[in-house]
Amino acid sequence: MEELPSIRLKDFAASRADFLFPEKVFARLKSKIDYLVYEHKTPLLVIDSLTVRKRYYELVKYFPDFKVHYAVKANDNLSVLELLASLGANFEVASIAEVIKLVELGVSGSRMITSNPIKPLDFIEVCRQVGINYLCADSKDEIEKIKFAFPNAKVYIRLEIENKESSWPLSGKFGLNEEEAKELIDYAVRKKVNIVGLTFHAGSQNNSPDSFVYALDIAKRIFDFAKAKCKIDMYLLNIGGGFPIDYTDKVRDINQFKTKIYSKLNEFDNSGNMILQMEPGRRIIGEAGIMVSRVIGKAVREGKNWLYIDVGVFNGMMEVIGGINYTFKTNSRRRAKVWNIGGPSCDGTDIVAKDVLLPEPEIGDFVYILSAGAYTSVYAAPFNGYRIPTTILV
Ligand SMILES: Cc1ncc(COP(=O)(O)O)c(C=O)c1O
Repeated sequence: MEELPSIRLKDFAASRADFLFPEKVFARLKSKIDYLVYEHKTPLLVIDSLTVRKRYYELVKYFPDFKVHYAVKANDNLSVLELLASLGANFEVASIAEVIKLVELGVSGSRMITSNPIKPLDFIEVCRQVGINYLCADSKDEIEKIKFAFPNAKVYIRLEIENKESSWPLSGKFGLNEEEAKELIDYAVRKKVNIVGLTFHAGSQNNSPDSFVYALDIAKRIFDFAKAKCKIDMYLLNIGGGFPIDYTDKVRDINQFKTKIYSKLNEFDNSGNMILQMEPGRRIIGEAGIMVSRVIGKAVREGKNWLYIDVGVFNGMMEVIGGINYTFKTNSRRRAKVWNIGGPSCDGTDIVAKDVLLPEPEIGDFVYILSAGAYTSVYAAPFNGYRIPTTILV
């Protein structure tokens, strides 16, 4: 028998260690998925509860001083919320509908916050009724609304920070720069609104711990300003979401985020007495989800191979429009080719990926999309009559 040169074995070991985390999730779930697709139609979003637990507990372990508020918007499936509630998670909500889901699961308002800086008046009213005491604002009008509908609310101000390291930026719509934030705090304090702290969002899928450092530097200056000029001791710091996950590449270890964030926190005067919050969505649910789709068509166009699957931009994979790239797998064992992958609708923007190397599937075969747990089913609409994914927690 031909002896394998040891270098090749070493390479093999290295490449195994290099597997993306969602590939490991997929390998472990594959037989369950094979079973589920006989019971349910595609597209099917299979969520791995073990991965949700792992990612949640990892944040609790690395950030022991923080309250972890799962951002419900990332995936509001009831079984997912129930699982996280049973683990002791807190929640970040953005609407009355999200609050109702949680209340129906028995989660009390004291476990919820809302970092949505522009809230309809009736949502503020529901916060008051349910006991969601921490509310975000970034404008004088919002301060006035809160003062009117929920005068005892604890209000934190949203900063805008550059999201340039993020693959799904959130800047440009909400938040204040340093000077604007100082001005609003001063205004709100004069209006006798209870200003307790700050929040920011470094942009979703942000692989740069330095983005958090940058934001914390600004936050520290504003804390100092509030104490010196407005005579208030702010005590709440919410570092938002943004933590990244493996899509097509490995991202930085969470420990690197922890180290940089904690070293900055030590610079705050009252660091030992602060309420620290984070509101991760993608990090907790993203890699746990595998989108299972079927091939519904194939074509060759201008020399390019095209696959058409039953999940597309409109019924689940909306984030491809903002540049999120996914890892694809198939059950086919045929020769690999390069494919463009289109969704089922007639819309020209409904293209899920380009230039993906995959074994050639037949019509009816499965295409699996990894790391599809976050911002997929929640965005989905039955455009052109194509069904939205059924979500199953396993
Ligand atoms: C206010 C707020 N908090 C938290 C999140 C969750 O962010 P991520 O999924 O990047 O962790 C978002 C995402 O849009 C958000 O808008």
